Amino acid sequence: MDERQSSPASFGPSTPLTPPLYPSAVYALPDLDALDCILDAKEAGFIYARDAHPNAQRLAARLAELEGARWALVTSSGMAAISTLVLASVQHGQRIAASHRLYGRTTQLFQQELPRLGVPVAFVDISDLNEVKAALQTPVRLLFVETMSNPLLRIADLSALAQLAHDANCLLAVDNTFATPVLVRPLELGADFVIESVTKMIGGHSDVTLGLVCGNNDMQAELSQVRSIWGFSSSPFDCWLAERGLDTLPVRMKTACANAAALADWLSQQPAVTRVIYPGRADHPDHELAGHLLHGGFGNMLCFDLAGGREAVNRFMHQTPGIPFSPSLGHTTTTCSHPATTSHRYVSLAEKERQGITDGLVRLSVGVEDLSLIQGELAKGLE
Ligand SMILES: Cc1ncc(COP(=O)(O)O)c(C=O)c1O
Repeated sequence: MDERQSSPASFGPSTPLTPPLYPSAVYALPDLDALDCILDAKEAGFIYARDAHPNAQRLAARLAELEGARWALVTSSGMAAISTLVLASVQHGQRIAASHRLYGRTTQLFQQELPRLGVPVAFVDISDLNEVKAALQTPVRLLFVETMSNPLLRIADLSALAQLAHDANCLLAVDNTFATPVLVRPLELGADFVIESVTKMIGGHSDVTLGLVCGNNDMQAELSQVRSIWGFSSSPFDCWLAERGLDTLPVRMKTACANAAALADWLSQQPAVTRVIYPGRADHPDHELAGHLLHGGFGNMLCFDLAGGREAVNRFMHQTPGIPFSPSLGHTTTTCSHPATTSHRYVSLAEKERQGITDGLVRLSVGVEDLSLIQGELAKGLE
C-alpha cells in the first residue's frame, strides 16, 4: 500500500486554519460490516461522493444554520436543487402552482419539462393573494415562488403565501436566491422548502456552480435519494470554495446593498435612464412589503431602462468595461446583464411584454467596490 495514503500528515500541536478538501470520488472500507454500518446510518462515514462527501456535508451544515433549517442538501446547481425538490415531492398527476414571474429556466422547467412528465403547472400572479387562493382551490401539491423575482424584483408576501398554501394542504417552496438568508429566512415565515442558487451571492466569487435545498420537515431522506439517483450531486472543490465564500457573505451583502440603494437613487436622476427598479425606492410597487420582509437592506440587485433599446444597451456595455456584461449575479464586483437576451431569452415575447422585460432593460448585480468607482463607470456608460 502506498505510504502516503495510509499515514495522514502530522501537524504536531497545530491544525490547519482552513478546512481540508477531499476530492476523492470513492472511499476505501475495511470490510462488508463497515459498509453496512454506514449505509444503515449506524455510523458516520462516506462511500461514494455522488451520495455524500465531506465538503458538501460541511457546507450543508453551515448553510442549514444560516437558513434556520433542520436539514440542508447541496446540489450541483440551483436548477438541480429545484429539480431535486420537485422530483422528490410531487407525484405524477399532482399539480404545481408557480409564480408567473420567475427566472427564465425555472419557468421553462415548469412550462416545458414537468407537463411532459405528467405534472401540470398553473402560473399565478402571487402579488394577488385572491388569485393564489383561487388557484389553490383545485388541489395543488406545491406552490413555488421567488422571494425577490428575477429580474424585476417583485417581492413575495411569504407569510401570507405560507398561510394560504397550508390552508389548502399545499407545500410552499421559496427560491431565495436574490435575497439570500442574510436578508430573509423564509423557513421562519412558514415556507416548507428554501432553494438557493449558491452560484450567486452565497458563493460570491463567480467560481462555483452549486445549489441548496433545505427545510424543517421530514423529507430530507427522499430528497437526498433523488439527488443521488438523478445525479444532481455537487463537486467537492465547488463546495470547498463556497464554504470560503460564506465567511464574507454578511459583510458582502451589507456593503453591496448599501451601494445598490445609493446607485438606484443616483440612476433615477440620470437623463438617459427612463426607469429604475429597486425595492428600496418608494416608487417600487412592493416597497412597503420589502420593508417588512427584508432585514439589513433591499438587496444588491437593481434594474434600469435605457430609452434607446438594444442599441443603447450595446453602447452602454461598450462604454463600461469596468462593469462586465456577464449573465449571472452575485460577483464581488459589479456586473451587468440583459434579461431579454439572457435569463429570459427563451420566454415568449408576449410574456416579456407582460412582465416589462424590455430591450432597454439592464440588470445590475452591485458589488462591494467603492461606490464612487461604480458610479464613475456607470456615468461613462450613460454619456
Ligand atoms: C432566481 C434564480 N434561481 C435559480 C437559478 C438557477 O441557479 P443555477 O444557475 O445555479 O442553476 C438562477 C440563475 O440565474 C436564478 O437567478
